[in-house]
Amino acid sequence: MLKLTKEQAKHHREAAELVTSQERLSAEEVEFVLLHWQEASTITNPLDGAFFTPLEMAKDLALHIGGSRVIDLCAGIGHLAWGYRCRYVNDWERDKPPLELVCVEKNPAYVEVGRRLLPEATWICADIFDVAEMDLGYFDDAVANPPFGRINRAGRQAPRYRGPLMEYHVIDVAAELARSGTFIVPQTSAPFRYSGVRRSAWEKPLTYRRFVEQTGVHLGFNIGIDTTYYRDSWHGVQPRTEIVTADLSTRIARTSVARTATAVRPHVASRPGPPVPQPLF
Ligand SMILES: C[S@@+](CC[C@H](N)C(=O)[O-])C[C@H]1O[C@@H](n2cnc3c(N)ncnc32)[C@H](O)[C@@H]1O
Repeated sequence: MLKLTKEQAKHHREAAELVTSQERLSAEEVEFVLLHWQEASTITNPLDGAFFTPLEMAKDLALHIGGSRVIDLCAGIGHLAWGYRCRYVNDWERDKPPLELVCVEKNPAYVEVGRRLLPEATWICADIFDVAEMDLGYFDDAVANPPFGRINRAGRQAPRYRGPLMEYHVIDVAAELARSGTFIVPQTSAPFRYSGVRRSAWEKPLTYRRFVEQTGVHLGFNIGIDTTYYRDSWHGVQPRTEIVTADLSTRIARTSVARTATAVRPHVASRPGPPVPQPLF
């Protein structure tokens, strides 16, 4: 479990006091909580892959989100939703519809904090594998910083993806709910390497190619955000990540999932040539 420094513990206590206060929180206070409330204060955080997105990264990622109906899957206490809300409220467009944010998170302690920070959002305390059946309607965009890797899913799975990686399950769930999406994934699950490398390149590992074959969803590049810039701002971890975008409308329809899933074969070249990475630009 993450051991907090004295300063982190003090800031966390101040953040927790803001959360339990009766006053309406100012934007500055909301951001203080987002910066300093520690996800490690609930003991399940390593098991659930709970590591909150650095606030500035959430705000930069929001440049990719669009529309007035947005769902945040695995929302934590709402970093990504807040990032988009700031952008939506501050942009120049007039006469836009009110923003409708839906945040789904399974940890009730996080949901309680999230409701204080973003009371105008609809907070659903649930497992994301149940969301597609909730009749929430279709969203303009989905966003997620999901748990990474082989997280225990208690046997649950997304409609199409059959592999072990939670980030791909979450994207596949998002594909049922929204037209497009923006996601934080481990660098090894992205189809490119951009952050923190000297030569950026498209690189599509077998796990990624299987995800595409099973789901019909291709992951794309972002506006050029090098996520290593925020590496020191996570709480207790320094994950190697990329921000990926997706047109989720290309997903394979659910009715043909069974046929597609059994037809999937790893693509293995008979005589692999030398690795020649394609440049991103
Ligand atoms: C990496 S954290 C990110 C939190 C938040 N999205 C952010 O960007 O700060 C992943 C979150 O997913 C939640 N989570 C894990 N498994 C989940 C599931 N099956 N359904 C809903 N939430 C889940 C964890 O509790 C955690 O809050």
